[in-house]
Amino acid sequence: YKVVTTKSLIDMKANGEKISMLTAYDYTMAKIVDSAGVDVILVGDSASNVMAGHETTLPITLDQMIYHASCVVRGAKRALVVVDLPFGTYQSDSKKALNSAIRVMKESGAHALKLEGGSEIKDGIKKILGAGIPVMGHLGLTPQSIYKFGTYTVRAKEDAEAEKLIEDAKMLERIGCFGIVLEKIPAKLAERVAKEVNIPIIGIGAGGGVDGQVLVLHDMVGMNNEFSPKFLRRYLNLYDDMSKAIGQYVDDVKTQDFPNSSEQY
Ligand code: KIV
Ligand code: NA
Repeated sequence: YKVVTTKSLIDMKANGEKISMLTAYDYTMAKIVDSAGVDVILVGDSASNVMAGHETTLPITLDQMIYHASCVVRGAKRALVVVDLPFGTYQSDSKKALNSAIRVMKESGAHALKLEGGSEIKDGIKKILGAGIPVMGHLGLTPQSIYKFGTYTVRAKEDAEAEKLIEDAKMLERIGCFGIVLEKIPAKLAERVAKEVNIPIIGIGAGGGVDGQVLVLHDMVGMNNEFSPKFLRRYLNLYDDMSKAIGQYVDDVKTQDFPNSSEQY
């Protein structure tokens, strides 16, 4: 796939090719992620935590998401760029949802949106889809509802919540979503959903029986050393490496080792 579209992702699922997805929030990171071959870049509202230092994803605004998304779009040449609609910009009514969706698409140049929730936000999703904007669902642990859950532990371990999740996934497929993120649910349940719908299921903490995986970039490169859930694989320890490098720079400045004669004009 020279350029990844929502259609490419559905083809990948049909052909059994797993989909790779990572977050990015700025131009430079998006450029690295894109040229390394990641299929989907998510401008996640995890920017609220990772970029802004908030405890939850709730405070980030639509304008801030648009800023992050526009930076990522400039760095991405191949990947599909999906943007989270933030808390409070789509839940109240479907007209508001559509207005928020149109703003992100127009002002950032992104390719698709992601919204958290199932039946509760069905009308909003339908309205956005009706405007020709591709939508990805997000079920399971939906962090914008953290104060409803009260904890970031695994969701849908009980039958009632699992049944609703399956129903919601089927509904999202039926109304025309191009994919669904399943966050932190039992692997068996995620695998069942991936089998029962034809649109791609992208998991985070949802096991290997799904159609693709997503992680938060800053977590997987180890820039954040305070967050170690079981599902996270760390490929680098950038927190440690950068701390060492920066400490060395401080030393070099203090001891006047930097700059040396070849590092000046
Ligand atoms: O905001 C985010 O980073 C996400 C992923 C964890 C799926 O929604
Ligand atoms: Na998110």
